[in-house]
Amino acid sequence: MLEDKDRIFTNVYGFQPWNLDAARKRGDWDDTKALMARGQDAIIEEIKASGLRGRGGAGFPTGMKWSFMPKNPDPKRPNFLVVNADESEPGSCKDREIIRHDPHKLVEGALIAGFAMRCRAAYIYIRGEFIFEAKVLEAAVQEAYDAGLIGKNACGSGFDFDIFVHRGAGAYICGEETAMLESLEGKKGQPRLKPPFPAGAGLYGCPTTVNNVESIAVAPTILRRGAAWFKSFGRENNAGTKLFQISGHVNCPCVVEEAMSIPFRELIDKHAGGIRGGWDNLLAVIPGGSSVPLVPAAQIMDAPMDFDGLKDLQSGLGTAAVIVMDKSTDVVKAIARISYFYKHESCGQCTPCREGTGWMWRVMERLVTGEASVEEIDQLWDVTKQVEGHTICALGDAAAWPIQGLIRHYRPELERRIAERAAGSAPILEAAE
Ligand SMILES: Cc1cc2nc3c(=O)[nH]c(=O)nc-3n(C[C@H](O)[C@H](O)[C@H](O)COP(=O)(O)O)c2cc1C
Ligand code: SF4
Repeated sequence: MLEDKDRIFTNVYGFQPWNLDAARKRGDWDDTKALMARGQDAIIEEIKASGLRGRGGAGFPTGMKWSFMPKNPDPKRPNFLVVNADESEPGSCKDREIIRHDPHKLVEGALIAGFAMRCRAAYIYIRGEFIFEAKVLEAAVQEAYDAGLIGKNACGSGFDFDIFVHRGAGAYICGEETAMLESLEGKKGQPRLKPPFPAGAGLYGCPTTVNNVESIAVAPTILRRGAAWFKSFGRENNAGTKLFQISGHVNCPCVVEEAMSIPFRELIDKHAGGIRGGWDNLLAVIPGGSSVPLVPAAQIMDAPMDFDGLKDLQSGLGTAAVIVMDKSTDVVKAIARISYFYKHESCGQCTPCREGTGWMWRVMERLVTGEASVEEIDQLWDVTKQVEGHTICALGDAAAWPIQGLIRHYRPELERRIAERAAGSAPILEAAE
């Protein structure tokens, strides 16, 4: 189990104030000038060496992403950092805790990352519903300006850097990085075709890197404590500590920082008080937020909770939003409800997603009640394969994967409902929406 001395987010539960004085006592903003004096390239190399992978879902190596930014930006086309605080994936609730209880970790991280990538400014795009969090963040940014930590000659380093907080309007799709750029520019939040990638042409056509809140907020501590320290947690290729968000049928749902690769059972027993009704009552787990396929109890029990361990189970770590379902769950109905979410959030630009999400949801609804036919299970599988990988952004995949997980692991349950319905004995279940 991760020891307290190795926790990065020491105020994740808000036992202490979030403000600058309290943050300084926790070690934030401690001689940031000296960190910057190491130089841009040295910072990027240290982040690369730490093995940090993006905490926003895809797990792309953070240091490598930073190295894609132009080293001599054109003053007329400055580099920008965009921090993704949209956090709308069902189950995910970690960035919110960082922002409301430990916002200076993010503000300092934005300065460090922005400096390393030679950025003129950072835009923190925060989910519209996070009203209290946006207020805290704006106040923390103002405190940093007032103390000379950001703005002109940030921390006395000679580097000028601004931070803007931008509130979204509550669309899940604006969490996709290029939709976020469109939204920041004042347009409808619809993902852009790639290439060009944001590092080439991003915000206002300028080189841009988009990173998740947690990826940015851990950077100063990694620099202070060293890449080797961060890398000492987790397995090879899955380094570091991680905020896990445990919800659903556990005794004590919580957000907790743990070492990557902790086995599932240990994570739940140590921090979430075990499964409601005991371990024999566990049905399945969605380990990385609603977009990743579920994993049945027997397979996840001893699995390492990291990128590779969950990929081996045909699922993913995603944002590490662990949704636990016990045997009282109607698993078909649960996935149907997730399908409804993705149908609702599709931006409608590409046909496979716009039509496919609605089509998949309607079949899912009929599978809940057993009204569908057995052939439709195969058709549904085919449609998920036609959507997956054939769309502008990964929302199409996110809609397809939960259904694939359901069919892969629970086909007998789907067929049972169809057979019972045909025999006239199935209960009429309510539709998911
Ligand atoms: C539909 C959709 C929604 C997304 N929502 C978020 C989000 O709320 N927060 C986030 O950090 N990344 C989100 N992402 C991933 C971002 O596009 C991007 O990969 C991420 O912000 C990169 O940060 P990282 O490299 O630090 O992980 C979303 C992606 C998709 C396709
Ligand atoms: S996959 Fe869906 S959400 Fe993404 S761009 Fe296409 S229509 Fe929009």
